Amino acid sequence: MKPKLVVFTGAGISAESGIKTFRDSNGLWEEYDINEVATPQAWERNKSLVLEFYNKRRKQVLEALPNAAHFALVELEKKYDVQIITQNIDDLHERAGSKKVLHLHGEIIKSRSTVDPALIYKIKGADLKLGDKCEKGSQLRPHIVWFGEMVPLMDNAYVIAESAEIFMVVGTSMVVYPAAGLIDFTPANIQKYLIDPSEVKVNGIENLNVIREKASVGLPTLVKELLK
Ligand code: APR
Repeated sequence: MKPKLVVFTGAGISAESGIKTFRDSNGLWEEYDINEVATPQAWERNKSLVLEFYNKRRKQVLEALPNAAHFALVELEKKYDVQIITQNIDDLHERAGSKKVLHLHGEIIKSRSTVDPALIYKIKGADLKLGDKCEKGSQLRPHIVWFGEMVPLMDNAYVIAESAEIFMVVGTSMVVYPAAGLIDFTPANIQKYLIDPSEVKVNGIENLNVIREKASVGLPTLVKELLK
């Protein structure tokens, strides 16, 4: 059996594919107010504005391509049972070829019924519009976990983190909970790696190797090392 390698990714891994991060300077949350576009209250208040915000995000994602960091994680599958847990809503891990990807915060290319959360659809093209309805007749919303909402896949992610034999964190500021707490569920004795060009605060984690590099540089180098 291949060793279980769990990778926790954030916006930084897609930055070099041209998708803006949220909290870097010039990040998305400088341009937009979270309360206006990414909460259930925003959706109740102004559905068009929320749809428009995510339509823009979707267009960008559709135009973007996976980068060297996404591809490096696919390489790892040669020797490891790789499970990616991503906070990203883009599909760049899948398009690079990674087989197991869990999206904690939803997927931009999908919509969801507002009366039955089990009804999830692939969006055709870039736009989700007012009047687009599920088969039960309700308005479709972006398949995104908004601020103030539960993270439905969190329990699955905890189980995966507990089973890790190697754990990697790539390109996340580790400030958004519960996702950021995932690392606390990993076994203390396993090797952990954190790749990010900026300083990221993680306290009380044993065996943590910090690599202060961009994902497209740090990750391929580390992967080469782990495949030796
Ligand atoms: N390579 C690796 N990391 C990078 C790169 C790069 N080229 N460029 C930037 N980063 C790092 C930044 O230093 C930062 O630590 O990526 C991180 C991005 O942090 P955030 O913008 O906070 O993104 P993320 O941690 O994914 O946000 C978590 O917040 O708004 C929500 O739901 C959204 O899933 C998102 C969550």
